[in-house]
Amino acid sequence: MDVLEAIRTRKSIRKFRPKPIPDEKLKTILEAGRLAPSAGNRQPWFFVVVKDPERKRVLAKAADNQTFIADAGVIVVALGDPEASPRWFRQDPMIAVEHMVLAATDLGYGTCWIGAFDEEEVKRLLRVPEELKVIALLPIGFPNESPLSKPRKPLKEIFFLEKYGELF
Ligand SMILES: Cc1cc2nc3c(=O)[nH]c(=O)nc-3n(C[C@H](O)[C@H](O)[C@H](O)COP(=O)(O)O)c2cc1C
Repeated sequence: MDVLEAIRTRKSIRKFRPKPIPDEKLKTILEAGRLAPSAGNRQPWFFVVVKDPERKRVLAKAADNQTFIADAGVIVVALGDPEASPRWFRQDPMIAVEHMVLAATDLGYGTCWIGAFDEEEVKRLLRVPEELKVIALLPIGFPNESPLSKPRKPLKEIFFLEKYGELF
């Protein structure tokens, strides 16, 4: 699958088969995150990979009770480090997460960005140091549904040529 196909076919998956992801595949996905660009190459990020079923369950509870994420093989929790990059500690981990999303898609796994969570609860559960921020949760697993693609705004509504409002 090439990158464009991964971009076109990716959909948020909210039903997973409770099946582990082989380590080799998981490493390929994590490596895609590791290689992501970051401002000044500061890489102001850490990622906690959660596999333990009970920890996933409690994490799902901390994620506004989105219980489906506990069925994913792993949940990657992306952390930003404001000391390492005061301006970009949010954007950079997000780019890394999207790299992992596309790599997972390429390998046939489903993902769903999770932005709704109680940061303090997540930090407590994973023993995240005080100074770090929780940026996103990314469940990765075998899809157990094939949802329809969600519509997107048409190109001409969101892209302008040269100046805002000028038709592309
Ligand atoms: C920053 C961000 C946060 C999101 N948070 C959640 C979430 O907490 N729970 C959830 O089920 N989906 C979440 N989503 C997924 C979006 O709902 C989904 O991407 C959007 O509806 C488009 O659908 P698609 O991903 O299938 O194309 C989030 C997506 C983004 C980009």
